[in-house]
Amino acid sequence: MAKLLHLMASPRGDRSRSLAVAAAFIEAYDDAHPNDDIDTLDMSSLELPPFDGPALDAKYAILHGDEPSGEQAKAWKAVEDAIEEFKSADKYVLSVPMWNFGIPYTLKHYIDVITQPTYLFNYSPEEGYTGLVTGKPALITAARGGAYPEGSDMEAFDYQLPYVKTWLQFIGFTDIRSLVVEPTLMDPDKAEERKAEAIEKARELAKGF
Ligand SMILES: Cc1cc2nc3c(=O)[nH]c(=O)nc-3n(C[C@H](O)[C@H](O)[C@H](O)COP(=O)(O)O)c2cc1C
Repeated sequence: MAKLLHLMASPRGDRSRSLAVAAAFIEAYDDAHPNDDIDTLDMSSLELPPFDGPALDAKYAILHGDEPSGEQAKAWKAVEDAIEEFKSADKYVLSVPMWNFGIPYTLKHYIDVITQPTYLFNYSPEEGYTGLVTGKPALITAARGGAYPEGSDMEAFDYQLPYVKTWLQFIGFTDIRSLVVEPTLMDPDKAEERKAEAIEKARELAKGF
């Protein structure tokens, strides 16, 4: 029995296009894998520790090869719990809106909390960085108000999809798929077509995921 974890970054509920595609994927995934567990982490209501003070000191302690202790160790426990929850999954779907050319701050906070040395990645001078979340597939469903097609002048403004892909690669993922719905604000009719296409692809993808 595998576990699919959905990281949901749009707070727009039924109006969210990134969520609509992820929801279609999850529904089809559930049909195809009825015995699997499916969990959703809603970035808008997730309780995360602040990543400053002792938690930050603990990260630097680990980076320098030391064990966090005292206040640092206490703060680090909440970070470890979040990491454990993330790593307990076998497969991932991330539904992500574009906000100011990047990702919502809630998802960035989550990434800042869980992306820790010795847990999600390692570093050595000989090997450089090594991701530790390996052999697991991820699907990103992205939505954005404008259009950022490959090869266009707008492509350089897209810090949403390339960022999420780079982060996943950094922590070890090699099997990363993505489905994009755009331009949801600039041309809603076109975006509806793109959404319908993405939903169809998502349903197909879910069967063999
Ligand atoms: C705070 C905020 C910032 C946004 N910034 C951008 C942006 O920089 N570029 C863009 O194309 N759309 C931007 N949008 C529009 C969203 O990307 C668009 O509405 C998208 O459909 C959101 O995804 P969702 O439908 O899954 O919520 C922004 C929306 C919000 C709420």
